[in-house]
Amino acid sequence: MRQHSFADVPPVADAFSAQVADTAARVVANDWVNAEYKLIVLDAPGLAATAEAGQFFNIECPVVGEDKPFFRRPMSTYAADAVTGRVEFLYKVAGAGTRGLAALEPDETTRILGPLGVGFTLPEDIGSIVVLGRGVGLATLAPLAEMARGRGVAVTAIVSARGPEQVLSVERFRDAGAAVEIVLDSDGSSDMANVEAILRRLHAEGRADGFYTCGSNRLMLLMQNLAAELGIYGEVAMEQQMACGLGMCFCCVRNFNVEGEIVSKRVCWDGPVFPLAEATSW
Ligand SMILES: Cc1cc2nc3c(=O)[nH]c(=O)nc-3n(C[C@H](O)[C@H](O)[C@H](O)COP(=O)(O)OP(=O)(O)OC[C@H]3O[C@@H](n4cnc5c(N)ncnc54)[C@H](O)[C@@H]3O)c2cc1C
Ligand code: FES
Repeated sequence: MRQHSFADVPPVADAFSAQVADTAARVVANDWVNAEYKLIVLDAPGLAATAEAGQFFNIECPVVGEDKPFFRRPMSTYAADAVTGRVEFLYKVAGAGTRGLAALEPDETTRILGPLGVGFTLPEDIGSIVVLGRGVGLATLAPLAEMARGRGVAVTAIVSARGPEQVLSVERFRDAGAAVEIVLDSDGSSDMANVEAILRRLHAEGRADGFYTCGSNRLMLLMQNLAAELGIYGEVAMEQQMACGLGMCFCCVRNFNVEGEIVSKRVCWDGPVFPLAEATSW
């Protein structure tokens, strides 16, 4: 491996000229989808609703009781509809920020900064993709299935979860025309050997021109190794704690392996979607 370097840093003026808005969004609904996750639907017309698959927003989370989240929290766009002006986020209620988000009631407002970052791409020579995700990673991957359908690309979604109660987004993937395979910890089917067997089968059947993943280090490494072995195109959406979300504070820097050289990049600015081959373990 060669030396460590920083990815090119754009001038701050470039960050401000990006197509980003800080929108006062009205809550339409904010409902539980299972014991851990909520879906928030926001009325956010204008630039926000033009978000593409894999892009994210930095969301203001209200102060509730002892929870005083100072920084906004990054969330992938679960849905964005430029016609209705609605933007949706599927989120796990995990800590101070998301507990505040969970407390928002219909007709209250919160500010969302975005759309931010670099989303997913589908190279023109790809006819089929496999998306493999777990937990909040499925929220990031679901809009990719719709983007693929819009381009005539066949999708297989492998949805990994602890048990049946934690399975997310299956209807969303099916509505986007995806074939869905569910793998669970509770019955052992999420075991790496079984997921690898599924990926190899899909490749042998000609259903895996591209690999896309989010939400699990182990699943990312599995796809990365297989993509290298089988010569498959791949992308990964990375998660990293963030502050500004705009490329200016450098709090989200991670190391990437760019053709043998370790390069530091900002997940919010250079990603959050990166070439699968470049990702390093977390
Ligand atoms: C680009 C991007 C997109 C994301 N999209 C989603 C999404 O669609 N849905 C969703 O539920 N979450 C998403 N996350 C993660 C989300 O931002 C964190 O879960 C959230 O910030 C936790 O905030 P909190 O204040 O509730 O919890 P905290 O009290 O800050 O943390 C609770 C737990 O979550 C961990 N955590 C905090 N921030 C992150 C982070 N950025 N990534 C991973 N783990 C974190 C902490 O280490 C801790 O264990 C995304 C993160 C990024 C960077
Ligand atoms: S969060 Fe500030 S540079 Fe990425």
